[in-house]
Amino acid sequence: MELSQRILSIPPSATLTMNAKAQELKQKGENIISLAVGEPDFSPPEHVKEALITAVNDNCFQYLPVPGLPALREAGANYFYRFYQVQPEPQEIMFSNGGKQVLYNLFQVLLNPGEEVLIPAPYWVSYPPMVQLAGGVPKIIPTYLEDNFELSIETLKNSLTENTKILILNSPSNPTGVNYSQEKLTSLAQFALDKGLFVISDEVYDQLVYPPSQPASLARLWQNHKDKIAIVNALSKSFALTGLRVGFVLTAAPIIKAMTKLQSQSCSNICSVAQKAAIAALTGDFSFLEGERQKLKQRRDLTLEFLKDLGLKTPRPDGAFYVFPEVKKYFNSHLTNSTALCTYLLERAKIATVPGIAFGDDNCIRISYAVPTSVLEDALQRLKTALNEL
Ligand SMILES: Cc1ncc(COP(=O)(O)O)c(C=O)c1O
Repeated sequence: MELSQRILSIPPSATLTMNAKAQELKQKGENIISLAVGEPDFSPPEHVKEALITAVNDNCFQYLPVPGLPALREAGANYFYRFYQVQPEPQEIMFSNGGKQVLYNLFQVLLNPGEEVLIPAPYWVSYPPMVQLAGGVPKIIPTYLEDNFELSIETLKNSLTENTKILILNSPSNPTGVNYSQEKLTSLAQFALDKGLFVISDEVYDQLVYPPSQPASLARLWQNHKDKIAIVNALSKSFALTGLRVGFVLTAAPIIKAMTKLQSQSCSNICSVAQKAAIAALTGDFSFLEGERQKLKQRRDLTLEFLKDLGLKTPRPDGAFYVFPEVKKYFNSHLTNSTALCTYLLERAKIATVPGIAFGDDNCIRISYAVPTSVLEDALQRLKTALNEL
């Protein structure tokens, strides 16, 4: 059987591949610590789990409206009021299987063949293949460690062509953890809007920003540019519900309609009981996050301090749960790139990390610190020993 050119042209997800490798070694009895996966290590709040159980006991297993139950769309709309003082209509919100499917749907309904999407590197691994699968052209644009990996207007300006259609921004960022200031995020988006672009703001980590830093959102700007901005969010990271697959989007109603049409022909509504849990999450208490942020911040500090002692340049992560140190000083004639270094770390130190090349920067690696502190300390010690052997 000959597979399609379309599927042959894209790679599998590098983060999931690395994690699968680590799991395989674990199953063989190796004492592997995985710092590779993008998943919080806390539990979802009890009221969310209870809502899920109640939905199961109520036999809530039927097909539901494709974009989500009315109460869920309303809860999604109210999220933007609660955190960003913007009140959308429910028809400006829809739910898909994770932030991932939201982004997939967006590219599918917005892109025509050959249209370009500007993707600042380092970028989340799935943006380029998703753009390709929609027939678009991913155009990777550089950011620099010296600028904390923040995109500059200058770079943006120099990257525009007559085919540029979309700019994607992601704050806090996966893989760097860098969190834009509200002013910076707005000014980048405003510049793109002035040039006629559509802006996608991937805000899936907005609840995981460490004070005094604050999350930045394009929700306010969206009010005046409804059909030119889409805001992507999900319960995956903030509520530790990665496997429940709940993502949502805020954008203009006609775009929601198009995405609904697409989703109606692919997977229909997201899981029925997940919708009930999501209503509980979005309408319930968010205060449990304060403790989780605190814990993550301590681990962030521990990791940063450690990397600093190793002399590794690392952008300052004020959100998410990743660090993205530059490791090229450890490259040698055998370990010539980030993939070789990560393979060495897996084999020698028994720690799984993700090569920076997967995010468009071969000089760095991504380390997730969303693991218990004692495990993190062990992993960092192993990292140090293995790097010092080079
Ligand atoms: C930046 C970014 N966007 C979107 C997603 C997709 O998240 P979800 O699990 O909700 O599909 C992820 C997950 O790793 C991510 O890091």
